[in-house]
Amino acid sequence: MAKICVVGSVNMDIVTYVNDIPVRGQTVNGKKLVETAGGKGANQAVAVAKQNKDVALIGCIGDDYHGDMLLQRLREYNVDTSKLKQLQDTASGKTSIVVEDSGENFIIYLEGANKKLDKGYVRNTIQAEKNCEVLLVQLESPYDVVLEAMKTAHEQGIKVILDPAPSNHVTDELLQYAHLVLPNEQETREITGITITDEASALTAATIFKQKGIEQGVLKVGATGSYVFDKQDMTFIDAIQVKAIDTVGAGDCFAGAFASAYVDGLSLVEAAKHANIVAALKVTKAGAQDGIPTQKEVKDFCAERNLPCYVTK
Ligand code: RIB
Repeated sequence: MAKICVVGSVNMDIVTYVNDIPVRGQTVNGKKLVETAGGKGANQAVAVAKQNKDVALIGCIGDDYHGDMLLQRLREYNVDTSKLKQLQDTASGKTSIVVEDSGENFIIYLEGANKKLDKGYVRNTIQAEKNCEVLLVQLESPYDVVLEAMKTAHEQGIKVILDPAPSNHVTDELLQYAHLVLPNEQETREITGITITDEASALTAATIFKQKGIEQGVLKVGATGSYVFDKQDMTFIDAIQVKAIDTVGAGDCFAGAFASAYVDGLSLVEAAKHANIVAALKVTKAGAQDGIPTQKEVKDFCAERNLPCYVTK
């Protein structure tokens, strides 16, 4: 039985690699186009599994060939897919993604089967997962379903980690059921109104999260690093310098790696440092799931860079 449960989306990412992301109205040559497994929920589950932790994914895929491929990939990565529904006559979630040489991207999301995940199913499934200690959620699934998942987890004494991406669905009602948040710069701005430029602005954003009932979190500020806050303190963690080629799924990778360390009892700062290393390594590789490093790759990277290694087992 899984210690970490993820409720979330599963998508087939259709990715075109270009030199530079085109501007509106511009036509550019692509370098290659690939179909690769993604979806914020699935990526998070794979990140947990690649850190050798038991993880169950609760979500929906379609019965198209993309659905079959997505299911197969998740199984290969050792994600427990027994709670993943494959719906008849339904298209799987899909995205159209463009990634440029700098690794930056934009994403267009088509919900497909993800839209059909229902509240009752999610509630019953979480209630039945007796070993679940941490619930990881993001916001590509219907709002009321995510809310129900968080409420159910709360009732069961399960810690809820909210990765508020995409942040356009975040409400104060939702936030009250999160124990911990992992927003990036843009999500922090949308939720708190604060643009993080320095420690003082990070502190203000953290204070607003606390006023909304969240006492712990990691505010990610891209290539700069991240601010970890709890009731009393705030700690800055430097970003790890790497040559980024594909940032798709880096945030999901961070969330999954963070949850893996957190469930093992590492401190908030240690869990964030671990996630920082795993996500840094992810952006050096292509593919939202394929690019997520294994625990062995993380250990090797730490040794190579002389970084403290927080891998637990
Ligand atoms: O966070 C990255 C993910 O967002 C991609 O894999 C894509 O599927 C979109 O959902």
